[in-house]
Amino acid sequence: MPEFRTTPGFRDLLPPASTRQRAFVDVFAGLVERAGYDLVVPPMLEDIGVFERLGKATDVVTKEMYDFVDKGDRHVVMRPEQTASLCRAFVEHRPPTPWKVWYAGPNFRYDRPQRGRYRQFDQVDVEVLGTDDPEADVEVISLGWRLYEHLGLRQVTLAVNSLGAGDDKARHLEALTSFLSQHAGDLSTLSRDTLARNPLRVLDSKRPDDAEIVAAAPTIDQFWSDESARHFDAVLAGLRAIRIPFVVQPRLVRGLDYYVRTAFEYVGGTLESAQNALGGGGRYDGLVEALGGPPTPGVGFALGVDRTLLACDDEGVFPPPSRSVDVFVVDTTGGRHATVLADRLRASGWHVERSFDSRSMKSQMKSADRSGAEVAVIIGADEAASGTAVARPLRTDADQSTVELDVLEQHLDSILTTVAPVRDASR
Ligand code: HAM
Repeated sequence: MPEFRTTPGFRDLLPPASTRQRAFVDVFAGLVERAGYDLVVPPMLEDIGVFERLGKATDVVTKEMYDFVDKGDRHVVMRPEQTASLCRAFVEHRPPTPWKVWYAGPNFRYDRPQRGRYRQFDQVDVEVLGTDDPEADVEVISLGWRLYEHLGLRQVTLAVNSLGAGDDKARHLEALTSFLSQHAGDLSTLSRDTLARNPLRVLDSKRPDDAEIVAAAPTIDQFWSDESARHFDAVLAGLRAIRIPFVVQPRLVRGLDYYVRTAFEYVGGTLESAQNALGGGGRYDGLVEALGGPPTPGVGFALGVDRTLLACDDEGVFPPPSRSVDVFVVDTTGGRHATVLADRLRASGWHVERSFDSRSMKSQMKSADRSGAEVAVIIGADEAASGTAVARPLRTDADQSTVELDVLEQHLDSILTTVAPVRDASR
């Protein structure tokens, strides 16, 4: 037993899971950058006030924050999410709007660890600040949907709702609180507790004891103002126009309290219901103002990287990328020739590997084979003395040839183009 292990809810991400995660972020970045979103990298540590503004009724804020007082007596928190950080950054730097940004990185919540729920977890997000155009909601929602399509996931459902805004939101909350209070005796103990802190969240209960009351509770659609209804209709019409299927779920509420109007979730069909939200988001039109900025509407989402990749495992899609090695340098003279040649060939853009520890020719050839390299470039004592190398194709029946080192690149170019025509285009 090792003396130290990761603490509960924290994990080491090792290859190939780590390379897969990198590939996932690359795919996401490609998709959202093509839509005009730029990367922002907010810090992982924030003043606790940034998240306290999210509302003291939110579990993420009251129960799950990794907060501490630092050596300068500042009360800080390891960010539990990034939307509030982003709005804090907006207020601090005042970029021109619409501000279309994306980000990726870890978040920290003192949650109960289980499959798909960790204390450190990664998200990728997009946010658009400075417009309340429903077409912006549609664009944001579509980007998440297109990502899932791109990954090959088929069992994802898009659930949408409008939580209303201002008066209609307040009137719904009042009616809901009164209804749930009248039926509090029939609710589960946990939901009674939630009712006291955050009545909206009771609608999110998946406990069988609550099902009947939740089904009968007043839903927001009965309270929408004309403006809220118009905005929501426009979002739905936009989704239809680009053929994104959705389900309107009048009981959809979100775990964070800053949402107004549009709220949505991408639900994974293969995951346990308590952890089946692969991602979610919505509008948070008052958040920038709550953090001391000018009135600035915003809409965005965060996708859980870990859960999305679990869903990919379940559906057998988006495997870890396989590495394509072009050349393996085998050096039986001690290893310095391999150092020089690998350095030179890597500079030409090839993917080049080699062995260490002066291993035998046989053992190095085995490693070359295992690496998947297309060609072994072999240097023994004779080749070292004559300024040559042997180039041996490993994946075809083509003969090996002895090549002057001066023209090695040309030779590799000719055999690698026939053997492996798709190589790094940056060369
Ligand atoms: P959220 O719903 O709290 O929203 O988190 C978004 C996604 O992060 C979830 O759907 C889930 O996939 C993943 N996630 C959350 N908690 C955990 C956890 N403990 N372990 C693993 N994955 C988790 C937000 O964070 C908002 N900031 C989203 C947003 C952006 N709204 C507007 N813009």
